[in-house]
Amino acid sequence: MCGIVGYIGKSQAAPILLDGLSKLEYRGYDSAGIAVYDGEHIRVQKSVGRLKALSELTHDGATMPGTAGIGHTRWATHGAPSNENAHPHFNRDETIAVVHNGIIENYLKMKKYLAGKEYHFASDTDTEVVAHLLDYYYKGDPIEAITKVMHRVEGSYALGIMFREHPGIVYAVRKDSPLIVGHGKDGNLIASDVPAVLKYTRNVYFIQNEEIAVLSEDSISFYNVDGEEIQKESSAIDWDINAAEKAGYEHFMLKEMYEQPKTVRDTLNPRIRDGAVVIEELGMTDEEISRIEKIHIVACGSAYHTGVTAKYVFEGMARIPVEADLASEFRYRNPILRENDLVIIISQSGETADSLAALREAKRKGVQTLGIVNVVGSSIAREADKVMYTWAGPEIAVATTKAYSAQLVAEYLLAVKFAQVRGEITEAEAASYLKDLQKLPEQIEMLLSNKERIQHFANRYISARDVFFVGRGIDYAISMEGSLKLKEISYIHSEAYAAGELKHGTISLIEEGTLVAAVLTQEELYKKTISNIVELTSRGAFVLAVTNTGNTQIEKAADYVIYIPQTNRWFTNSLAIIPLQLFSYYVSVGRGCDVDKPRNLAKSVTVE
Ligand code: M6R
Repeated sequence: MCGIVGYIGKSQAAPILLDGLSKLEYRGYDSAGIAVYDGEHIRVQKSVGRLKALSELTHDGATMPGTAGIGHTRWATHGAPSNENAHPHFNRDETIAVVHNGIIENYLKMKKYLAGKEYHFASDTDTEVVAHLLDYYYKGDPIEAITKVMHRVEGSYALGIMFREHPGIVYAVRKDSPLIVGHGKDGNLIASDVPAVLKYTRNVYFIQNEEIAVLSEDSISFYNVDGEEIQKESSAIDWDINAAEKAGYEHFMLKEMYEQPKTVRDTLNPRIRDGAVVIEELGMTDEEISRIEKIHIVACGSAYHTGVTAKYVFEGMARIPVEADLASEFRYRNPILRENDLVIIISQSGETADSLAALREAKRKGVQTLGIVNVVGSSIAREADKVMYTWAGPEIAVATTKAYSAQLVAEYLLAVKFAQVRGEITEAEAASYLKDLQKLPEQIEMLLSNKERIQHFANRYISARDVFFVGRGIDYAISMEGSLKLKEISYIHSEAYAAGELKHGTISLIEEGTLVAAVLTQEELYKKTISNIVELTSRGAFVLAVTNTGNTQIEKAADYVIYIPQTNRWFTNSLAIIPLQLFSYYVSVGRGCDVDKPRNLAKSVTVE
């Protein structure tokens, strides 16, 4: 939920820390702070609000000289956003500074323990116990103190640590929160995510759970939880640096929406060969695929919404029973998993705490797991038995668009593969599905190029109080995502409803002028949903319909129609979601909201 960075090298640390934090601000943005060793002391500056305030306070880092430092951008969990609660946190004599991402679950117990040893707390955070515990265990050897703290604290953490007595070194350690080390030419870095180091290096180490990294200006070494040195291989990051920049777009969200054709292409193309699906990384034999009795798709938020769509697709096309589950529910309901089940965990970040816990629960029960993940080397990617990457590149806007689209097509590919292997579709049918899939990028481009019409419509609704999204079957899954997009970035109340359910309660909320977005992409359900639209308009609703080209009967029922190009009925989500994303985006812009960093949210939810 928070972002951490650290630097030690030949250059001034503060500007590098601030720059790195600016690439991580999507992870949390209610306060920020940096600590820099100035040759004598570790000096700290913090500021509530966006990073900009800290940059102004420190004159872009100029007031904090020194070549070693750590920094943090916060998304509050324990204690309100305030200077006291902002990181870095100190031990009592300000000789140890700590930045933390994650949650120390036993912090109250630790706090009590430390209070009994005359430690006083200046903040409400769980992090401060780490600083005091380090102080308590530190007898001259930082590694020894860090490993002792690792044995005492429970929960998740990525920590950046500095000891005044060891000024030429930055320490880092992680458990269940992401952390990487960048090996630069003029110095070394730590960060919660790759974009923070890309400007300085493409050579990174992924720190694994319970590993410690020790960085000096010209060396990097790693230790395990027993304090023994271990060897690690670095990885080369081949992302285009522009992928993490706005490249002239007003917002990351807009840029990422426009990247969807490429994302979809990149996720599909390497896996389609000679008219067949080839997913090498799946590593499952045809026999294993045929044996699958049930699929559990587990994820959070938008990733879960792709799972709901995939449920319809797998069941309809491959005739495999599917349960789509919210990870936060799955992990605690003792799910019934059988030997021949497959659990698919979907996650852009690969670090979502609930999804990771659900994955571990599935593995604990001995079931095969497959991660559909965007961030290479992330926890879910590493821990799942198999991983299928969505090649969306870095997604910075909190509201997902391109990763969502990439997840959808990854799931479609799996469905086609499974359906063919299990004899539910012929080779020719599979080839025809793949042809339709390969048309999606161009069709998405076409929808994006018609943005003005949606922009114009969105401008009329920037003051809406409530918006409802309705549909049946896959169209209901699309509605769920359309509704989430709108509410998260525009703060307008919205709900998604299965169209047939409206009259069981929700229709009482419809008033004169209430906007309802109805999605109709499933031909066999047109008539049913049109009846629901009529029920809505006769109660005063204004209905925006998103439907397939050719469904002209809709024009009699709906007030405003957006047509999407024809595709196979299983793949319509990939097209119908585009106007809904654009609608949310323009409503948010029109209302003057912070599109890329909506209030109270963070990109990567690494806490429960
Ligand atoms: O990184 P993940 O895909 O695991 O994240 C899951 C959700 O937090 C995420 O999809 C969230 O709902 C979106 N950012 C909303 O746009």
